Formats: sequence, C-alpha cells, structure tokens
Amino acid sequence: MNLERILHSQGFGSRKLCRILILNNEVTVNGEPCDDPAADFDTTGLHFTVKGEAWEFREKAHLMLHKPAGYECSLKPAIRPGVHSLLPALLRERGVQNIGRLDEDTTGLLLFSDDGQFIHRMSSPKWKVPKIYEVTLKHPADTRIAQTLMQGVQLHDEPEPIAALNCVLINEHVLHLTLGEGKYHQVKRMIAAAGNRVEALKRIAIGRLVLPDDLAAGMWRWLSEDDLAKLARGQT
Ligand code: URA
Repeated sequence: MNLERILHSQGFGSRKLCRILILNNEVTVNGEPCDDPAADFDTTGLHFTVKGEAWEFREKAHLMLHKPAGYECSLKPAIRPGVHSLLPALLRERGVQNIGRLDEDTTGLLLFSDDGQFIHRMSSPKWKVPKIYEVTLKHPADTRIAQTLMQGVQLHDEPEPIAALNCVLINEHVLHLTLGEGKYHQVKRMIAAAGNRVEALKRIAIGRLVLPDDLAAGMWRWLSEDDLAKLARGQT
C-alpha cells in the first residue's frame, strides 16, 4: 500500500493532508525517513512515526478505555463531555465507536472499534457476552440479595423476570454482578428491584477480559491478540 493511503487509512486526515505530512518530512517508516507519498510498503507489522509519535499499522482498531465518571457514551453528548474526547483525534477520524454504553456516572471497561464484525459480535444479544459489574450498595446487604438477583427480578416494561448469570457478595456493601444482557440502566433497576440502591457502579470485566489494574481512569490502550482471544472465549 502506498504511504499516503497508509496514513489516510490510519486516521491521519484526508489524502491531501497525508500527502503534505509526508512531503514535509514529518513521517518515518520502519525507522527511516520517507518523503515520497507514492512509496509502497507491506503493511504487515509496519511501524511508522508521524511528527515524532510512534504508531503501528492496524487494519482494524480494537481498544479499551477505562471510562471515568462524568463522561457520556454518545457521539453527540448533551451535557457532559463524550467518551470519544478521551481518545486521540486519529481514532475518532477513523470512525471508532464505543461498543455498548455505560451511564454517565458509571466507570470501568468500555470497548471501542471500527471493525463492524467485532462490534456486531460483542453487542449482539445472540452471543450474550457476559459483563461483570462491581456494585457499591447504599444499604448493607447479606447473601439473600445475591439469591434474589440469581433467581430473577421483575423489571418494569420487561415481560419476564431477569436473572443475573452470577452474583457474589464481596462484603455487605459490595457485590459482583454478572449479566448476559445490557438493558437500559439494567444494574440500577435490578438492584432497586431487589430492595437496595446503587451508590457506585464500575464494569470490571467483559467476557474474560478484565479491566487492567494499571489502566488509570481516562486512559485507553490497544487490545492485544491475547485480549481478543479472551473476548472470543468469554462468549457463551
Ligand atoms: N447498568 C446500569 O444501570 N448502568 C450502566 O452504566 C451499566 C449497566
């Protein structure tokens, strides 16, 4: 693929802008400066820098964000800033979108991609990819709340009771709740239906992919092959 197309495909702007970057000597490829927009490269494992910043060619983008509180999961946020503003402009430019939504006050693991098949697989109700939430409860609870949530609770506007796939009480104010669907405010509504209230909510895992301890709130990183394999295995 020629260098101008490579940069364009990775989100560095229009073809014209990419050509200018290259002609202005702002680009190196595999460690060597290159000022020829038409120069052809094998994209497999290609490393390049633009204005001194290092990148690796990725045909599709797959990434995770540790969502902080106070951000909306919408492309057109109404009140608070959008989660997309936490990503570099080139990822927005190449059209990555968040997979599913977390409420503005919910923190934790949020996936993004521009890979249509991946987005479909991760969000399709058919695959029921389990999501694990750490729920901080307002009122002290005992193991009965876990039993109630595992047996199923009736939510307003739902035809059938909804049951958690798993529920573990960590202490009287914290439980880990695993859900197979992602209905509107589902955790908050289920906890309310079980007679308690959510004080804080954090998504700590999707399938077998756990939010890494060293990924601070507001930070993002690429998904590794290992992460993608964990997501694929986590499907039921
Ligand atoms: N359930 C909720 O109630 N809120 C979230 O953000 C995610 C799941």
